[in-house]
Amino acid sequence: TKTEIEKQKAQAAAYAAKLVPDHIVLGLGSGTTAAYFVKAINQRINDEHLDIQCVATSVGTEKLAEKLGMRMLDVNTIDQVDLTVDGADVVDHQLNGIKGGGAALLFEKLVADMSKQNIWIVDQRKYTDSLAGHILTIEVIPFGGMGVFRYLKENGYQPEFRFKDNGDILETDSGNYLINIIIPKDADLEKLSIDLKKQTGVVEHGLFLNVCDELIIGGDQIKTIKRS
Ligand code: A5P
Repeated sequence: TKTEIEKQKAQAAAYAAKLVPDHIVLGLGSGTTAAYFVKAINQRINDEHLDIQCVATSVGTEKLAEKLGMRMLDVNTIDQVDLTVDGADVVDHQLNGIKGGGAALLFEKLVADMSKQNIWIVDQRKYTDSLAGHILTIEVIPFGGMGVFRYLKENGYQPEFRFKDNGDILETDSGNYLINIIIPKDADLEKLSIDLKKQTGVVEHGLFLNVCDELIIGGDQIKTIKRS
């Protein structure tokens, strides 16, 4: 049920918040699960007077963190992030995952790449055998969008631009467009990732391979899985 899912998100977020060490630069993920984490870590920072500075992975998260009064850094003023805690759309047993359901994949990947450690927090629905059959979001520059769309169509995908509820095309925090495809059965994820990145006009895509170091799955009994 919806409330059970929200409970699991909050449980995973609370567990992750307890793992955060003092005196670090912390990456704050995006989406509903990450929002639980932002609130939980903010509570700890205030209660325990922690010396933690943060970078956000979306305009939405930046706004939330600023509203809470967290100490925020401009991502371009730092060389690395110590730890990032983020959500994901789906995660397989190797801890490869898809992100981008919330349209923040580009900033999320930039911050994840800068992070020494990446922890993902999810509810139980999202932990799956395979990423095949799931939606993958590809971020394209508006000018090159149709070219990438055609390329995907010619290669057997059924690409769809993402739109807002009011029918307007959805623009990311960087003003780009998003195209959704479904990951085919038996897809070679590594190859798909490289192929997509090679297309002119593609800025980034939501496949996050070998990024997550530790997965935390919410529940009355928390489950944690470390990348081997
Ligand atoms: C944002 O682009 C996404 O990658 C989110 O991190 C992911 O979709 C998880 O969002 P929810 O926690 O809202 O499901």
